Amino acid sequence: MSRLPLVIAPDPVLKKKTEAVADIDDDIRRLMDDMVETMYAERGMGLAAPQVGVLKRVFVMDVGADGGERRLVKLANPEIVWASEETKFYEEGCLSIPGQFAEVERPAAVKVRYLNYDGEVREIEDDGVLAVCAQHEIDHLDGVLFVDHLSTLKRNMFLRKSKKYKKDRERDQAKESA
Ligand code: NI
Repeated sequence: MSRLPLVIAPDPVLKKKTEAVADIDDDIRRLMDDMVETMYAERGMGLAAPQVGVLKRVFVMDVGADGGERRLVKLANPEIVWASEETKFYEEGCLSIPGQFAEVERPAAVKVRYLNYDGEVREIEDDGVLAVCAQHEIDHLDGVLFVDHLSTLKRNMFLRKSKKYKKDRERDQAKESA
């Protein structure tokens, strides 16, 4: 497994729609494994393929990654097959928008159908953090970021800060390699 470089917003790759996976082969499994390693290294709860520059419908999540009980799931071609009418607010963040958090309103519970690591159809239903995380990651596969759920004013502020972070990071990296 290897850790992959993260794409930081704003970046056109984060705004693109991704392609369905035709079948779960060794390449997809390697991608999933590398994404898991990257997610843990970056201390994230979830990571979608566009965040490592790959435009495929794949994401990984572990809502227990932050000190809780490990609950790792690797998903391809996820689909929300049911969502509750009831909604709730949850404070979200994103590895592609470092250090920034905001309350986002989404359906409180969802059922997601997907292909697992072995290419089998599976379903998960949840009304907790996992439901929030799954919706956030599926958004990524459609080119949607959590800031797209906020007001234009807030979104622009978040993206401006992220842009500055990205610039600073690039400058630091250039210094290191100089
Ligand atoms: Ni994200």
